[in-house]
Amino acid sequence: MNIKNPHGKGRVTTSRTDSVALRRFDGKTALVTGAAMGLGAEIAKRLAHEGARLLVADIDASKGQQLATALAGGGHVFLEADLGRTDSAAQLAEQAAAAVDGLDVLVNNAGIVRPARFEEISDEDWELQVAVNLRAPLLLTKALLPLLRDRGAAIVNVSSEAGFRPRSSKTIYDTTKAGIGGLTRSLAAELWQYRIRVNEVAPGGMVTEMHFASASDPAATKRQLEDAELDEGYNIMRRLGRPAEVAAAVAFLASDDAAFITASTLHVDGGMGLG
Ligand SMILES: NC(=O)c1ccc[n+]([C@@H]2O[C@H](COP(=O)([O-])OP(=O)(O)OC[C@H]3O[C@@H](n4cnc5c(N)ncnc54)[C@H](O)[C@@H]3O)[C@@H](O)[C@H]2O)c1
Repeated sequence: MNIKNPHGKGRVTTSRTDSVALRRFDGKTALVTGAAMGLGAEIAKRLAHEGARLLVADIDASKGQQLATALAGGGHVFLEADLGRTDSAAQLAEQAAAAVDGLDVLVNNAGIVRPARFEEISDEDWELQVAVNLRAPLLLTKALLPLLRDRGAAIVNVSSEAGFRPRSSKTIYDTTKAGIGGLTRSLAAELWQYRIRVNEVAPGGMVTEMHFASASDPAATKRQLEDAELDEGYNIMRRLGRPAEVAAAVAFLASDDAAFITASTLHVDGGMGLG
């Protein structure tokens, strides 16, 4: 993305989690992967804010534990998991079953990106991104099925606009995100027999740790991204999205407000490609 004016029109009204009065998840349980920071953390906050008891799954034990402790309400649990490992799904499911009797919401959010020019792609780049971004949602859904089935549960998979509008140097990431769309529709068809709805949220460029954590001054870079006016053509709103805006979309699809919605994709991208 090209930032035209770092002090431009980016400061506009955005969705917030703390002002929401809805309680759509009272008495419900939810597991969110990659919830220690970024979009996952805000999704966990939104679901907890609306009454859910959260299972926070992440590879980062310190930040994940911190988040679980800080969530609204009580009884939240942190589960450490490296979703790049094949055995992580079974282990997570075992830990989840020890913590709750059933799961109402599963958000497959964890994802990683390793940009590389096509000629320089390695087997390791492929293995890692496919494992975390695409294999883990499949294996975790399968491992958690006993907890999800026959209770009107909802699964939300977080893909990306990159799955619809691929760019150069992100071939593997973009392919895994396109794959999430296929997985979502396949699972929606397969899992309705257990009364499970499955949908996809496709965010456009968002202000998250993915884009500022490794900067020399993360706080300053975060502010710059929030204030940025993007090049014409990036999206209609010419700004990046906020995690709370994805969290609101995930909460909607996970709730009974979306009771007749399955196999759908909700684009949360400020009108990408139409600016
Ligand atoms: N940030 C964006 O602009 C953007 C845009 C579209 C889609 N997305 C997607 O949204 C999701 C969240 O992205 P984000 O921007 O919040 O990323 P982020 O890097 O800010 O956070 C990712 C989280 O996943 C965790 N994680 C990473 N590898 C893991 C592993 N092996 N096992 C378990 N947890 C792991 C990290 O510790 C972190 O908490 C991803 O699937 C990403 O592809 C992000």
